[in-house]
Amino acid sequence: MSADPAIEVHDLRKRYGEFEAVRGIDIEVQRGEVFGLLGPNGAGKTTTVEILEGYRQRSDGEVAVLGHDPAVRSRELRQRIGIVLQSGGIYGHITPREALRHWASFYPRPRDVGEVLALVGLTDKADVRSRKLSGGQLRRLDFALALVGDPELIFLDEPTTGFDPEARRTAWETIRSLRDLGKTILLTTHYLDEAQALADRVAIVKDGRVLAIGPPRELGVGASHYRVMYRNAQGQLVEHETDDPTRLLHELTESAIARGERLEELSVGRPSLEDVYLELTADV
Ligand SMILES: Nc1ncnc2c1ncn2[C@@H]1O[C@H](COP(=O)(O)OP(=O)(O)OP(=O)(O)O)[C@@H](O)[C@H]1O
Ligand SMILES: [Mg+2]
Repeated sequence: MSADPAIEVHDLRKRYGEFEAVRGIDIEVQRGEVFGLLGPNGAGKTTTVEILEGYRQRSDGEVAVLGHDPAVRSRELRQRIGIVLQSGGIYGHITPREALRHWASFYPRPRDVGEVLALVGLTDKADVRSRKLSGGQLRRLDFALALVGDPELIFLDEPTTGFDPEARRTAWETIRSLRDLGKTILLTTHYLDEAQALADRVAIVKDGRVLAIGPPRELGVGASHYRVMYRNAQGQLVEHETDDPTRLLHELTESAIARGERLEELSVGRPSLEDVYLELTADV
């Protein structure tokens, strides 16, 4: 396997008529990486992902997916990628098993259909017409379709939207096991806990631009950024940000002890991915 990145995007732009939905995105996804694309509705995530999948044409910029230009829609590339579209499939008249068999036939070395049905928890519904499935069950079928070809690169556009909590956890385990197999995954999600749990790195996009990129833990916060919180004697929540929590805690606790007070609910934390996301994407 070559060490080239799985995905390289340089100055990607997409115009819909007068409107520029993607305005110069640069992203590199390494092989074996789970990469999360986060951002508000309309940020340009699906546009970007579908350009990488070869479903939409870019207006400008350079894109390489497993060394191919996806706009060419080569058979070789299509056999190496798996896709969950945000909009889902159009297979109401056939059963999940039929849909998976059909889809598997496009790939040189597909996975066993029964095994994939079990993996997404659809064994019971394998032979029911898809239009009779619930929303979450249909979404599981979408997920199964992305896996059945055993592709090396998987695009998941909001794969767990509509999943119940247990199905979401199962999907997370599946995504982790795919990563353990060395697969590369590009994921979009509005669930920041999902991004935090799964992604090695994330990019936060808004208005077609990347605002921040990095491992979820380090994103947008310096390595030395801490938040100290406690409830004061009046019951109000007090919040400090500091680079030096050791010293700050010492000062706070020393003076509280001198006053004979306790610092209720004292905690030292780092801003969560959600804090960073909300701060970065806030409309000013
Ligand atoms: N086919 C299209 N024609 C015209 N405008 C489009 C088209 N597809 C998307 N857009 C516009 O481009 C922008 C980006 O859309 P996109 O679907 O990429 O957003 P997204 O980040 O995936 O959002 P969401 O979180 O809601 O899925 C939006 O403003 C949208 O209205
Ligand atoms: Mg989208």
